[in-house]
Amino acid sequence: MSQTANPFTVDERERIRSRFSRALSRPEIYLAHHSLGLPPDELLASLTRFADLWYTQMDLAWEEWINEIKRFCANTAALIGMEGQDCVVMKTSCGQSLRAILNSLPRNESLRPINIVATRGEFDSIDFILKMYQDKGRAQITWVEPKLSDQGIPLFDAQAIVNAITPETDLVITSLVMFNTGQVLSGWDEIAAKAKECNAYLLGDAYHAVGVIPVDLAGFDFLMGGSYKYMLGGPGACWLAINPRLLESGELRTLDTGWFAKKDTFKYQRQENAELSDGNTAWMESTPPVITAYQANVGLSLIRELGVDRLRATSLAIQKEMREAFRSHGVQMIEPENPEEFGAFSLLPHSDGLGFCDELRANGVAADARAGFVRFGPSVTNRSEEFDRAGQAIASLL
Ligand SMILES: Cc1ncc(COP(=O)(O)O)c(C=O)c1O
Repeated sequence: MSQTANPFTVDERERIRSRFSRALSRPEIYLAHHSLGLPPDELLASLTRFADLWYTQMDLAWEEWINEIKRFCANTAALIGMEGQDCVVMKTSCGQSLRAILNSLPRNESLRPINIVATRGEFDSIDFILKMYQDKGRAQITWVEPKLSDQGIPLFDAQAIVNAITPETDLVITSLVMFNTGQVLSGWDEIAAKAKECNAYLLGDAYHAVGVIPVDLAGFDFLMGGSYKYMLGGPGACWLAINPRLLESGELRTLDTGWFAKKDTFKYQRQENAELSDGNTAWMESTPPVITAYQANVGLSLIRELGVDRLRATSLAIQKEMREAFRSHGVQMIEPENPEEFGAFSLLPHSDGLGFCDELRANGVAADARAGFVRFGPSVTNRSEEFDRAGQAIASLL
C-alpha cells in the first residue's frame, strides 16, 4: 500500500467518527490525539458495567473485575505481538513500571548504584525518576545525546546507544518512538544484541508506538506503555510487559510488590518468606484499581478492531494531507524526507510553542508543544476540511 493511500473510505471514517459523537460534538478542531485520545461513546456503558457489578454483587464482583483486568492484559499483549501470552501486568503509570524494574535489579538490592544507559529523549516522568535515583546514589546514568538533523530535529542513533552499553551496564532504556519529535527509533535489534552480550536488561518505552506502528519485537526484557493517547483509554491505565523468559526463570523479584503478587492471594496464608505467585501475577502489587480496566478496554478493543496496520497507513496519509493543507496557507511544517521514520504527529518549529498553543486553542484548534516544536497529531476521526480551517487559524497567528 502506498504511503499516502488512506485505507478507510470517507464513509468508513464517518462511521468511525460516529463512535466518538460525544467528544466530537465540541466545536474545537482536535489535533492532539498524540496527547490525550478521544473517549469512545461506548466508554460510558463500560464504566456502568463496573458500577453495576459493584451495586449488585458487592464483594462477589471481584471475580468479574479481575477478569476485566485480565482482558486488559490480553488486549495489550495482542497489540505488542505477544497474543495469548500472559506477560503483561496492569500498572497505573509508566513511572510505576519503571520503578518496579529498578527495584528488581540485583545490583540495586545490594544497594550499589545501578548502571543505566538511557537516551536524553525519554519522557519527563522517566527522566525525572532516573534523576531522583541518581540523586539518591541508587543509579548512575549514562545519557545518550541526540544529533541535530539538517531540518533541526534532534534525532537518536541506535549506534550511539549500542556504543554506550558496556559490561558494567545493568539496564538500557529507550523509547521506540520519541515523544518530543516522533522519531521512530530504528536499530532495535542491534541494541538488543549488545544488551544481551553485556548481560544488561533492556526496557523499551512503547507509549508512542503501540497502536501507531506495528510493535512485534524480539529481544525486549521489558516494555511499558499506557492507554492515555492512541489507545483511547484515558489516564491511569498503563502496563508493563515482561519477557516470558524472565517470568519463567523468576530471576528478577521486585521490591514493588503487594498481596496480589503473593502465591495464592485469597488463601490468606502467611509463609515466613515472601513467596511469589507464578508468571506475570508475580509483578502485580497491592489491591489494583479496577475501573481503569473498564475505562481502557473499550479503546483497546476498538484499536484491535480497526487494525494497527490500517491505522498507521491512515495516519501517514492524513498527516501528509494536513501538512499540505497547512502549507497552502503558508505554514512551514517540517516535511520529513521519509515519513515512515516518524510516528503519529507532525512538527512545526516554534520558539514559544506553549504560548502559541494557548493562542491556537483560543482560536479553536487543539495542539501541543514540546522542546521547540508544536506537535499536530490528527486521527482517523478528523475531516479534511478541518485541516484547511486549522491551517487558516495557524497562519493568522504566526
Ligand atoms: C514516551 C512516554 N512515556 C511515558 C509517558 C507517561 O509516563 P507516566 O505514565 O509515568 O506519567 C508518556 C506520556 O506522555 C510518554 O509520552
